[in-house]
Order: sequence, then structure tokens, then C-alpha cells
Amino acid sequence: MATPTPSPSTSNGPVTFQRQGDVCVVTIDNPPVNALGVDVRRGLAAAIDAAEADSGAKAVLIVGAGRNFIAGADIREFGQAPQQPSLPEVCLKIENCSKPVVAAIHGAALGGGLEIALSAHYRLAAPTAKLGLPEVALGLLPGSGGTQRAPRLIGVKPALELMLSGRHAGAKEALSLGLIDRLGAEADARAEGLAYAQELVAANAPVRRTRDAAGLADKEAARAALEAARADTAKKSRGLFSPMKIVEAVEGALTLPFDEGMALERKLFLQCIDSPQRAGLIHAFFAEREVLKAPETRSASPRPLTSAGIVGGGTMGAGIAVAMLDAGLPVTMVERDEPSLARGRAHVEKVYDGLIAKGRMTPEAKAAVMARFSGSTSYDAFASVDIVVEAVFEEMGVKKAVFAELDRVCKKGAVLATNTSYLDIDEIAASISRPQDVVGLHFFSPANIMKLLEIVVPAKVSADVVATGFELAKKLKKVPVRAGVCDGFIGNRILAVYRQAADHMMEDGASPYEIDAAVRNFGYPMGPFQVSDLAGGDIGWATRKRKAATRDPQARYVQVADRICERGWFGQKTQRGYYLYPEGARTGVPDPEVLAIIDAERVRAGITPRSFTEEEIMRRYMAAMVNEGANVVLQRIALRPLDVDVTFLYGYGFPRHRGGPMKYADTVGLPKVLADIREFAKADPIFWKPSPLLVELVERGADFASLNQSE
Ligand code: 3HC
Ligand code: NAI
Repeated sequence: MATPTPSPSTSNGPVTFQRQGDVCVVTIDNPPVNALGVDVRRGLAAAIDAAEADSGAKAVLIVGAGRNFIAGADIREFGQAPQQPSLPEVCLKIENCSKPVVAAIHGAALGGGLEIALSAHYRLAAPTAKLGLPEVALGLLPGSGGTQRAPRLIGVKPALELMLSGRHAGAKEALSLGLIDRLGAEADARAEGLAYAQELVAANAPVRRTRDAAGLADKEAARAALEAARADTAKKSRGLFSPMKIVEAVEGALTLPFDEGMALERKLFLQCIDSPQRAGLIHAFFAEREVLKAPETRSASPRPLTSAGIVGGGTMGAGIAVAMLDAGLPVTMVERDEPSLARGRAHVEKVYDGLIAKGRMTPEAKAAVMARFSGSTSYDAFASVDIVVEAVFEEMGVKKAVFAELDRVCKKGAVLATNTSYLDIDEIAASISRPQDVVGLHFFSPANIMKLLEIVVPAKVSADVVATGFELAKKLKKVPVRAGVCDGFIGNRILAVYRQAADHMMEDGASPYEIDAAVRNFGYPMGPFQVSDLAGGDIGWATRKRKAATRDPQARYVQVADRICERGWFGQKTQRGYYLYPEGARTGVPDPEVLAIIDAERVRAGITPRSFTEEEIMRRYMAAMVNEGANVVLQRIALRPLDVDVTFLYGYGFPRHRGGPMKYADTVGLPKVLADIREFAKADPIFWKPSPLLVELVERGADFASLNQSE
């Protein structure tokens, strides 16, 4: 069919419409992602009105300009005064249009974007399109008819699965689910959408409203799917607000007429909007994008990144090698001798063998990946690599010796990175002839899985090296957070402090099991003592011994962990730590002998144990975390409070729906956090020193959010 010449276009804010033959083409152009802000909603409503009024228009086509159809509601508007027209009203206007409306989808059609498409009468998607209802990830439910239209269109079970997982479906899957009517062949859906609309006009096709679709015809199957989802949600989404609201809204689709179902959806949506979980999750959404905007990523371009070297094939070196191999980079590993190199290679292979055993990788795919891996005991193997990450023993002398070798062999401009957890990277940089090339890349264990990458910026590093760190994170699909040099950078420095708060509570009367339970009930997957057992108590023990000489003799020091380690109880790997792990079990059981050790330590320290409520445990735990977080921001170790939040969300299992520790503190109220710290300081003024930043913010009546503007 020939493409008719377009008529002059009319713009209504970011929405333009023009006639092409019989079809009124409505284009949404609201960069970067065509979010449905108030101007778009107004423009869409006006475009539909215009199409209705235009007797020459026989059909309407809705398309998005740029890379996406529509990414959904404008998330920035949530929590602000609502502006008319609302999105459900716009969707209803589209659905009620008397002329067939076609949505031609390319890129993302997510949330409200898919809801617009579901309100259209016919849908076509480009092969690369992504469709989904991801509102659950923001603490919301699809609030523009998604909970009522999707089940009617594709059935309760798949609709609930999409809404509760929040995942994006590809166009092919969308076709098989019945979400779309036609799969296009081109990446840009506009031309094929126009042809589709013309075809519908030629065939005199009727309007076809999703509200009248037959997806709920089998009531029994729908009811069974709903009840299964309810049971599953109760189990898997414990503590989360919006998933059960999604189930309730879909129940409305089953039991109520469409308009009443829409009213129920609205009511439940507004409850979600008001929930602090919505605020926490949306903070997390923006924070994880803000961390990418470090000063160096704006001022400099990354250096080339086509090959990598790793020094050390232990826990971290092997994990980092896998992360790099998975990103398609060729990797050269250097170890100190042949047996260690063989172990390093075996560590890498073990990861892929595990995937093969689970059926998630074929032996051929493993062979292809391992073909990019090479090993050597000579640093000369690094002569041509673009970046080297050092992951050898945590000792300054060993690190400096390695960097001297790197200085000797690496090509000019190669990035020289250390994965040190605590050591002074300025000192490492100063020991070689090219300090401008030295940066910290602090991965988290297991490095091929954990998303966080702290990019530690020493004083002399050049901006393009830091930018290369961010580029590497992108290649490795990690979340980078810029950190300054100090003992433990952002994450481990703060961890050291709240871990002490936990130890103090343990000595004062709370059992490690009570503390772990309180932390889990707060939303963490594990408590701090379970984490110690998983990581291995020997690591922390070695650090404590190393730092013993420099410890403030006046500061409180709880010795329980030392007593446990002295017995050789290092956690899961020795089947005993704070918990017992009978026959290698991964979930521990409380150990009466550990409780006896704690009792003995209380006697030695002259402490009469008292009881702690869960609420007090969390108040102390969080106050310690937030106070040190404030110090880290004050000293510019973290650029903003949100960088602390992202560190904890991606490196330490902090519950996402609370947004991160600094966002949590804002939610609780900084005056309350400060009052807690001052109260706790009465008994231990050395440990509990209010951060000057916290004090200043409280005096100014400000919060951490006020410091979150981009640098
Ligand atoms: N509202 C406002 N801004 C948004 C947005 C939205 N829905 N989606 C993305 N943005 C912004 C981002 O913050 C970012 O801004 P920045 O450049 O200033 O940092 C910019 O758009 C580009 O986003 P990304 O960096 O994420 O771009 P990508 O190309 O990597 O990804 C995307 C594109 C897949 C669309 C991704 O942005 C995304 O997943 N967006 C959110 C989708 C979503 O959750 N939609 C549901 C919204 S809630 C809803 O619709 C409620 C309704 O049911 C009533
Ligand atoms: P590990 O002990 O498992 O591995 C260290 C490896 O380095 C060993 O295989 C050893 O043979 C090799 N090695 C030592 N000296 C070498 C030399 N001169 N040349 C070449 N290879 C040498 O240690 P792990 O846990 O992998 O830690 C490595 C580094 O990563 C440390 O700096 C540590 O602080 C840091 N780190 C550790 C994390 C963890 O959870 N284990 C997390 C983040 C960072």
C-alpha cells in the first residue's frame, strides 16, 4: 500500500498530530523516554479530540518519537499535586474513540506506556520492542487500567505474572501472549503501524475495546490463578506493600464490572502512592541513575577497554576474571607460581561448570569463553592490556611489589587498578612512576554476581582513568559508586561502625540470633552475624589483630568474635561460627556454646545483661549506620547521601523498598535520629559521637535529600 503524503502537523506541547491519508498520526515527542507528564496527557487528549472532529480521519495511529514508544507515567510527578487530565482519563478517551486506534510500539512500552497501548484497539510492535508493567518495582500497581485491561486481554495468570514480576516481555512473547496483534519487521514501528491502520480502514475494521475482550471467560481458571498468585505473593513478597494490592486489583477485574474495577484500581493505586515504600523505591530508581553522573564522567572520556589483566586468582581475582569474560573481554591472569595459576584457572572454570551443571550453559559456550582466558606467571603477559586489576593478598608490601611490576611492564596509558578493601591507594599510587593511572576498583564478593563497584579515586589519578572505571562498570553491568580514599571507602567503613553497634548490643544482652532476626525483619536477607559466618570469621579476625596496636584503648572492644575465632570456628566453612551448620548445612542453627561464650564475656566485662526489643535493636543499628554515613558525606568520601544509599542497596543487601540508609533516615526524621544518638551517647560517648553534618542539617531543618543534587 502506498504511503500517503502527510498534511501539515499540529503540535500540542510534546504531542503532534497530522493526517496521512485517512489516518491521524499522533506522535509523542517528550525526550528522553516519552514519559507521560501532564503536557503529554493534555496533548494526547487534544489529539484524540481532533481526530474525532476530523471527518477525513478514519483511524488514529499513536507512535513515540526517539528510542521508545512510552516509558510510562512521569515518575517525577508522583507525590506532587495531581494535574488534569489523569492518565486513566486519557486511556479511557483513547478506548472510547469512535475510530479505530492503533498503537505502533518500538523500544519500551512500559507501565502507563503499555496501558496507553492496551487502551488502543489494535497493537503492533517492532521486533526489538519491550513491553511490561513494571510498576511493582516502584512500589506501585498499574494504575491506568492495566490491572483491569491486561487480564481481560491475555488472561489472569499471564497478566498477574507480568505485573508481579515487573519483567519486560520481548515483542515475540508479547505476540504469543496476545498483548499485541502483530509483530513488525522493522526497528521503527511507524511505517508498519501506518500500513496496519490503512489496512484496518480499508477493511472497515471495527473499534475493538480491550474492556470487552474475553480473557476472563473461564472464571474457574481465572479464580484458580488468582488464588495461586495470592498464596505465592504472601510467601515471596512478605513485607512489601504493592504486590498484594496488585492481586486485589486483579480480583476486582474478576468480580466487578469494568468501571467499578477501575475505581477499585484507582483507590489501591493511591494507597500505593501514599506508601513510604513507593518513596523508597522511586528514590532508589533515580539514585542508581544519579551515581553514574560523577564529575569525571562529565569532564573526561574513557580510555580504550578492549583487554584486561588480573593479578591474583583467588576468591576475588577469579570472580573479577569471570565478570570480565562474561562482558566479552579477553582476560590474562598472572599468579605467583604455576600451582597458584592452576588454582586460579580452576576457580574460573568452576563458575562455568556450575552453570553447565544447572543447564544454564553448554560445554561449547564454556569453551568459547575460556578461549578468551589466558594465564601466566610472568608480568610480561600484561604488555599490551588496557587495564589491570590487582587482587592479591591484602598487604601493602605485596601490593607495592605488584605495582612495581605493573609499572615496569604495562604499556603507557594502561589503567592500573587495585581491588584493595582497606589499604591506602594514595600510598600505592605514590610508589610508582605513574600515579595518574592508579585507581581503586573495589568489587564485592562474589565479584561475578554482586552488582556494586566502588570506584575509589586517589588524589593524583587523572579524570579519564576514573571515567574508564565507570565505563568498565557499564560493560560489566555493575552499579558504580564514586568513593574517596579512606579506611574502608564508603561501604566497609560504615559497616565497621554499625557492626560494632551490633557487637555492643550482643554484649549488653541481645543474642546474635535476636539481632539477626531484627535485621531480617527490617527487610535484609541476612543478619550481620549470619553474614560473618558466610564471609568467614578469619578475615575480620586478621584485620582486628592487624589494627590492635592502633586501637583507642579507651574505646569499647567486644571480644566475643575473638573467642569464637580462637576455637577455629570461622563460620560456614568450618561448620561453626555464631551458628552451627550441621553437615555443611547453609542455614545455621543457634549454638548454646556460643551463648555460653557471650555470657562469659559479659561476666569478664562486668555487664549485667538486659533485654532489647527489635525496635531498639534497629534504632541503634540504623543510627550507627546513618551517623557514619553522614561522616562519609561530610568528608566527601561519598559525593552525596544517595551514593551511600546505592552502595548499601547493591553491596550490603539493604532493603530496596526503604531506599537506602540515608533515605531511611529522612523518612524517620533526622531530629529523631540525632536524638537517639545523643541518648545512646550518655552511656558510651566515645562510640556515639553525633556527626557534625547530622547536627548541622537538624539545626537548619534540612534533610539528606537536600544534599542529593548532582555535582
Ligand atoms: N519518568 C520520568 N523519568 C524517567 C522515566 C519515567 N517513567 N523513565 C526514565 N526516566 C529518565 C531517567 O531517570 C533518566 O533520566 P536522566 O538521564 O536524567 O538520568 C532518563 O529518563 C533515561 O533513562 P535510563 O537511563 O533508564 O534510559 P535507558 O535507555 O537505560 O532505559 C527505560 C529506558 C527502559 C525506559 C528505563 O528508563 C525504565 O525502565 N524506565 C522506567 C519504566 C517504568 O518503571 N515505568 C513505569 C512507570 S510508573 C507508571 O507508569 C504508573 C502508571 O501505571 C500509572
Ligand atoms: P585470596 O587469598 O583468595 O587470593 C589472593 C591471591 O593472590 C592468591 O591466589 C595468591 O596466590 C595471589 N597472589 C599473592 N601474591 C601474589 C603476587 N605477588 N603475584 C601474583 N599473585 C599473587 O584473596 P581474596 O579474598 O581474593 O582478596 C584479594 C584482594 O581483594 C584483597 O586485597 C582483598 O582485601 C580484596 N577484597 C576481598 C574481598 C573478599 O570478600 N574476599 C572483597 C573485596 C576485596
